[in-house]
Amino acid sequence: MDALTALHTRNSINLLSEPGPSESQLENIVKAGLRACDHRSLTPWKFLLIEGSARNKFGKLMVKAKEAADKRPISPELAAKLETKPLRAPTILVVVASIKEHEKVPEIEQVLSAGAAAQMMMTAAHAQGVGAIWRSGSMMFTPEMHQGLSLSETDQIVGFIYLGTPKVAKSLPAHKVADFLERWPGE
Ligand SMILES: Cc1cc2nc3c(=O)[nH]c(=O)nc-3n(C[C@H](O)[C@H](O)[C@H](O)COP(=O)(O)O)c2cc1C
Repeated sequence: MDALTALHTRNSINLLSEPGPSESQLENIVKAGLRACDHRSLTPWKFLLIEGSARNKFGKLMVKAKEAADKRPISPELAAKLETKPLRAPTILVVVASIKEHEKVPEIEQVLSAGAAAQMMMTAAHAQGVGAIWRSGSMMFTPEMHQGLSLSETDQIVGFIYLGTPKVAKSLPAHKVADFLERWPGE
């Protein structure tokens, strides 16, 4: 697939099955993330790979972090449901903004750079026929989630990218360029 076709046709696939991306597909995906725009070349990113049985532990961590986010215990039914969420895809990439201290590059720019890396990886997945969806949740902002993933205090999770084999084909939204682009008259 050529680059413009990949950029113009990427979409999210929420129904994903085995297999996850191969080693070489994963390498291409992360390599694309490393080409995200990056003010002052701070490389403010970290990517954690979660697959296989680690997804079960990640599910338990999600429950713990969700309880922390909600500031109350969650019902056993919801906990059981939440715990299996990571099993919806064979491979998960946690995209982390690894914030560096820099006088010219504020935190927001580094978080945006990590978001850009996530989008680059989504598109690289699509270009190789790997299905992907960017997921999030209040639990990703909790100290419990950070501790569980061994992240530092200055790290920020920007998303969980679920990767796998697409189970369904999805149509693209009919967005029109003209509805989003306007020329500023300069006066
Ligand atoms: C920062 C961010 C967080 C998101 N979190 C979720 C999420 O938790 N669950 C979900 O179903 N979609 C989430 N999405 C949206 C999907 O990833 C997807 O973009 C959306 O469903 C639109 O589909 P499309 O990408 O095919 O246009 C998130 C998107 C972004 C940018």
